[in-house]
Amino acid sequence: MIKQAIIPLAGLGTRLLPLTSVFAKELLPINGKPGIEYIIEECIDAGINEIIFIISDKKIMIKNYFYNDKFYKNIIKKKKDPRIINEYKKILKYKKMIKFVFQNKPLGTGDAVIKAKRFIKDKYFLMLLPDDLIVKKNCSKAMISVHNKFKGSVMASMKVNKKTVSRWGIYNISKKINKDNFLIKGVVEKPNPNQAPSNNAVIGRYILPRTIFKKLTNQKPGKGGEIHITDAIQSLINDNEIFIGHNFLGKYLDCGTMNGYIKSSLEIAKL
Ligand code: G1P
Repeated sequence: MIKQAIIPLAGLGTRLLPLTSVFAKELLPINGKPGIEYIIEECIDAGINEIIFIISDKKIMIKNYFYNDKFYKNIIKKKKDPRIINEYKKILKYKKMIKFVFQNKPLGTGDAVIKAKRFIKDKYFLMLLPDDLIVKKNCSKAMISVHNKFKGSVMASMKVNKKTVSRWGIYNISKKINKDNFLIKGVVEKPNPNQAPSNNAVIGRYILPRTIFKKLTNQKPGKGGEIHITDAIQSLINDNEIFIGHNFLGKYLDCGTMNGYIKSSLEIAKL
């Protein structure tokens, strides 16, 4: 059973400047709610009971958001506003599930994952990248079902415009399993369009084996000098670990870019 999730949150958010110059991008409101709460709710609905947040000293406000009890208690004592009471109860519920670890140097997603190592108990865990919102259908839940059926690792996949492949991790597909799932032969981080093996992109939901920690610890920096999770995954595939690509049914909202972030509020308002 997959019960633990990790969420890397130490990124600088430069694609969203100036909004992120003093503010954590994951707390920016999307249709009246911090983006990170959509991700937490996806986890809870998928049966996750512990979430490891990888933050940095610069993004301590994310921890403060969940540890502001004194402030809430004072306001509630004075105002007894049912809306605030409900919001506080929700924050308390989230807080109970979350553990915090720190990645103070932005060395890449792979390096962030290493920081969560000591918390992971089971053979497999879920990872969600908070820039990627998937609405209408719970992608993590669907991926956990795929994992339970086929046993291996699972990653979310979506077809993208061929001209934009250098923005994503791109799959090399081995064979189709069924309509929504395929076996992965390889994955390459942000290839040039003329070298990309396909236009099937990695979207930020992963079910990964605990063995990835060992790969990451020994891994040399890749593209842009960062430790990429993509490179560790390729190394596991080379060792015959099964990786399945899952074409998710929900709607993808790219909240990591300014255009995508603006559009995401409009899309969610329509739901
Ligand atoms: C990360 C991954 C990339 C993946 C993308 C999905 O890139 O490295 O493989 O396709 O998330 O959003 P980033 O968005 O951090 O540049």
